[in-house]
Amino acid sequence: MQANGTEKLKSAHIGLKFGMSHIEGALAYGAEIAAICDSNRENLDFAGERYGIPEEKRYTDYRDILGSNDIDIVTVAVPDQQHARISCELLYAGKNVLCEKPLALKREDCEEIIRAERESGSKFMVGQICRFTPAFEKAKQLIDEGVIGEIYFAESEYAHDYMYLVDTWRADPDRHGVIGGGCHAVDLLRWLVGDPKEVFAYGMHKLLPTVAYDDATIAVMKFDENVAGKIFVSTGCKRDYTMRTLIYGTKGTIICDNTSPTMTLFTAGEDGMAHEPEIIDITVNNHNAAREFEVFADSIINNTPVATDAVEGAKTVEVCRAIVESSASGRIVTPDYDF
Ligand SMILES: NC(=O)c1ccc[n+]([C@@H]2O[C@H](COP(=O)([O-])OP(=O)(O)OC[C@H]3O[C@@H](n4cnc5c(N)ncnc54)[C@H](O)[C@@H]3O)[C@@H](O)[C@H]2O)c1
Repeated sequence: MQANGTEKLKSAHIGLKFGMSHIEGALAYGAEIAAICDSNRENLDFAGERYGIPEEKRYTDYRDILGSNDIDIVTVAVPDQQHARISCELLYAGKNVLCEKPLALKREDCEEIIRAERESGSKFMVGQICRFTPAFEKAKQLIDEGVIGEIYFAESEYAHDYMYLVDTWRADPDRHGVIGGGCHAVDLLRWLVGDPKEVFAYGMHKLLPTVAYDDATIAVMKFDENVAGKIFVSTGCKRDYTMRTLIYGTKGTIICDNTSPTMTLFTAGEDGMAHEPEIIDITVNNHNAAREFEVFADSIINNTPVATDAVEGAKTVEVCRAIVESSASGRIVTPDYDF
């Protein structure tokens, strides 16, 4: 694989349900699909047929691709409980790994991936895909340009109905909805505002009675002095999927989400008042796997740092875990970012 594009970047893909989006991301980049893997033969062949991957490049055991020397990127989209084991084996085998969010469910698993990333020298990226959602990219740009001044409050929600997923690995008590899904909203606030210093949360449990964890959680968080935030996570809600996000600044306000073709920007005029908002057209691309793959591929080709490396993924999981802990204990929890 070369930076000038004379030789195609080669990718392999493990876990082929949501993971098919990574194949599409790789194809959009112009990569060559060197291998695909799924432990379920039916899912493997479905993806193989869909993308025209020959039989000799299809594997049911990911360990069969560990020894291959000409794979530049491996994407991992298996159940969250397996992220650490598979990512670590790949990193130590010299592979650059793009692994799905959340980094892992437990702190010790996050630490294991950080160690493997550091010791192996391979590159690692956790797929916090909301950072590539057009509305959120635009919000980040407006914030960085100072358009809304200094942020004093931001909120984001992750509202997604898991009703049809209650009999799957997503119902594992360790896979609390705040960690598994809410990590999107938490990561978004960390990216847009910074690392919360304290969190306090309440949990509700009315929608998915057979699932061990709360199906709705509200958390408030303190960032720097005079800056606060709020997260709402609902994994049984009766509505379409949304990550509605509001960012309030001293000079303006942004209202956006991941599923709307427009976003709203209020800015204060000469008189200091916000009058008519600007409605900004936005491409709806809730899972921008193509951009995510491109960013990781470019960081490998140019040997530049990965923004969402293992430590960044671990910090997001740490905030999620602090929220879960707070809702269980009724106490304010201080996230520990020492990784
Ligand atoms: N970024 C996003 O917005 C987003 C959306 C959906 C899922 N995800 C993440 O993607 C990952 C996969 O989620 P999903 O919805 O595709 O789950 P899924 O259960 O629908 O599919 C997982 C696939 O992985 C395969 N698999 C399981 N263990 C394997 C192993 N050891 N080796 C090879 N294949 C294995 C399964 O057979 C299945 O085909 C999870 O980490 C999830 O959190 C992210």
